[in-house]
Amino acid sequence: MTDFSTIYKLCLLTVTCCIQACSSSSSRCPAVECWLVQDHVGRRGATTQEKSLLHIRTDANSRDAASEQIPSDINPDRVFFITDPAATLCHQSLGPPTRGSLQKAQCEISPFLHQPSTLKWVAPLTVTGFSPVYLQADWFSAALLGLNKQLIISSIMRSPTATKEPNVILSVRSKTVSVQARLGKPVLLDCGFWVDPSSPLSGSGFAVEWRYQFRGKGRLVLAYDGKTDRVADTQEEGATLDFEGLHQKGNASLILQETKVRHSGTYICTVHLPYLQVQVAVELEIVEPPSLSIHPSPLPLAVPGQTLVVQCEASGFAPLSLELSWEFKGADGKSRPLESASVTGHRQAWDGTYGQSTQLELDTSNLGTGGELTCVAVHPGGTRRASTSLSVIGFGSPSIEDSMAMVGVALVLYGLIKVVSWTFSSSGTDVADKVEKKEK
Ligand SMILES: *[C@@H]1O[C@H](CO)[C@@H](O)[C@H](O)[C@H]1NC(C)=O
Repeated sequence: MTDFSTIYKLCLLTVTCCIQACSSSSSRCPAVECWLVQDHVGRRGATTQEKSLLHIRTDANSRDAASEQIPSDINPDRVFFITDPAATLCHQSLGPPTRGSLQKAQCEISPFLHQPSTLKWVAPLTVTGFSPVYLQADWFSAALLGLNKQLIISSIMRSPTATKEPNVILSVRSKTVSVQARLGKPVLLDCGFWVDPSSPLSGSGFAVEWRYQFRGKGRLVLAYDGKTDRVADTQEEGATLDFEGLHQKGNASLILQETKVRHSGTYICTVHLPYLQVQVAVELEIVEPPSLSIHPSPLPLAVPGQTLVVQCEASGFAPLSLELSWEFKGADGKSRPLESASVTGHRQAWDGTYGQSTQLELDTSNLGTGGELTCVAVHPGGTRRASTSLSVIGFGSPSIEDSMAMVGVALVLYGLIKVVSWTFSSSGTDVADKVEKKEK
């Protein structure tokens, strides 16, 4: 009985400990190692980069002594105590790397210069005056990239002058740092923001802007003026936002209703508040594997030694990264690669997808009686195969024996018929006579 109660107590203790450990670890944000990057006024172009540490808490009054230990390689002046009420910077992918992983989260914090925007859909945010005293503070912007690109966050923080205790005012984050999508499908590029409701900047409206960039060229995709609740500009058909979610939950995700090849590139989600703006960039790649067809199909019958010219055409794929090859599977069931194929240059179709083909000069002399011919296309979107069967009909050296055997069989049959008809005619039946007469 005592044994039982001891076990029971032990169990209870374990469960309690676990609950405490679990809840405390979820409420505490990991400290984030960061680079403090500063431009120095006066020394033109001089930028310094120093190791720093961000301690993040959701409540300004909760200082956790254990989490405030400062590593010896970090200058105590470069340690920030950030208050982040919505825990936007709290994510385990931003913490120290797990054992054995080589990757680290990336973080950069730097002084931020606030200024009114002149963009048409942002300018209305700063026409009405508000206390500019609020802007008199140290402002910082931080950019964080989680382990394995799980998420990307950018934040703007305000720190009462010279305190190094900034408060998060505006955070923008995305969980789709790098997206691959099939052609013609809808795709969602995630972007969400949070504004500190206690900030005087929060009530004055916001604007959201999505821009597209590819190889140095940029253009506007969509601009939304949250103050007047209207789309200020859109230059991409089928691009839209979830306007309800935008106002209710800060969901600024971009929806592309039908992906096209030209949609591959970088998308920048920018959220504007009066005097502040912050952005995250996400990558979209349209990946579509090829369709294959073999010509001629079906293949004509071949005689040994004949060279067949076979084409395999790959079309409708993107990006332009394709390896075409041929394989042959004979009667033994083993596949082997075939050489002597040439690949043509690529062409681009009206929809931006690519096409490419390969031509094989197939020497049929070593292929026995035939088998299966396969065209293989290796593409980032997947490997595709197309097959056709090849028949080689025997007229070569072994067929001399075949025809001799056939002559032999014919002779034997002829002899048999002769024997049979001689037997019948010598027995002298009427039927046999009549048949003979008819033949004559
Ligand atoms: C944002 O809105 C889109 C479209 O309605 C939705 O699919 C997505 O789940 C939303 N994201 C969040 C975090 O609520």
